[in-house]
Amino acid sequence: MLFDSVIDAVGHTPLVALNLPAAEGVRGYAKLELQNLFAMKDRVARQIILTARESGELAPGAPLIESSSGTMALGVALVGTALGHPVHIVTDPRIDKITLAKLRALGCEVHVVQQMSSHGWQSARLELLDELLRTLPGAFWPRQYSNPQNPAAYRTLAEELLAELGHVDVLVGSVGSGGSLCGTARALRAKLPELRVVGVDCVGSVLFGQPDWPQRLQSGLGNSMLPPNLDHGQIDDIHWLNDREAFAATHALAAEQQIFGGNTSGSVYRVLRHVVGELAGPAVVVGILPDRGDRYADTVFDSGHWEAKGLDDLPVRREPERVPYGQPVTAWSWSSPVEVPPTPSGV
Ligand SMILES: Cc1ncc(COP(=O)(O)O)c(C=O)c1O
Repeated sequence: MLFDSVIDAVGHTPLVALNLPAAEGVRGYAKLELQNLFAMKDRVARQIILTARESGELAPGAPLIESSSGTMALGVALVGTALGHPVHIVTDPRIDKITLAKLRALGCEVHVVQQMSSHGWQSARLELLDELLRTLPGAFWPRQYSNPQNPAAYRTLAEELLAELGHVDVLVGSVGSGGSLCGTARALRAKLPELRVVGVDCVGSVLFGQPDWPQRLQSGLGNSMLPPNLDHGQIDDIHWLNDREAFAATHALAAEQQIFGGNTSGSVYRVLRHVVGELAGPAVVVGILPDRGDRYADTVFDSGHWEAKGLDDLPVRREPERVPYGQPVTAWSWSSPVEVPPTPSGV
């Protein structure tokens, strides 16, 4: 494929049929967002930055500032520097060295906060981000958790699926900001109203009515706060995996499918495999795999890390247990998010 720029090359990712035990006519596919130049959020960065330039909110040459240790930082670095913006990334000492090397290689200024503040690393990062916004004239912050251009970025992903498959019965995806799963689901449902959407979260995340456990080890998915871009109404079923189950699933994705992904790709694979195995009739199931495994070499793929974190002591389930929404879980479980009924008009 020939592209005029790295920005045009974002997306157009491969869709691969997986080799899975399934009933006649049931097919499972992996949408390899990990084949983007950096990762899935390259799409989000492109959409947010181009829209902000069009609206004038981001002037040519003005600085971009983002707080992230992962895929969003890389996406902003890619699109921002390609368009000639100085890019400032605010992060903390937990950033992995591969991501740090990539950000610096692209010419970003990386600000590593050295001390937690009132609400841990997150608040320390946001305080520094605020300070940078005040001191850098014209600076723009993409705000992936609330910017509607985050979910809107996945219209292209939905179009790619429709062009390649024509039909999708079940979509499986991880949830962090909610942008990728809710955005893809919303765009697909405009053509496929019967679509079933299965979300994947981690034990200890508050996104779907669970208690917060900030010590959780999984990155990318899960959250300690509710992002405005998460639209619960788009999600039919939600699965939670604990750290051991998610990391083991990431190993299984490599061993069984030759796909070396990060832990969110592993979790999506585990749930997709389960969904495919449950379906009796012809069906097309697609899972979104967000990023590659390289930056997890010292964590997910390191036996010393498993030992140090006591991962082998966590419970493991081979199949998910159905739980009432809101019941705290410690191992693979699933439920259906409860929708708040709309208030009758006039009341
Ligand atoms: C590696 C990885 N996987 C999954 C997600 C979750 O995606 P979303 O924020 O679109 O819900 C993220 C979000 O940052 C991520 O970095």
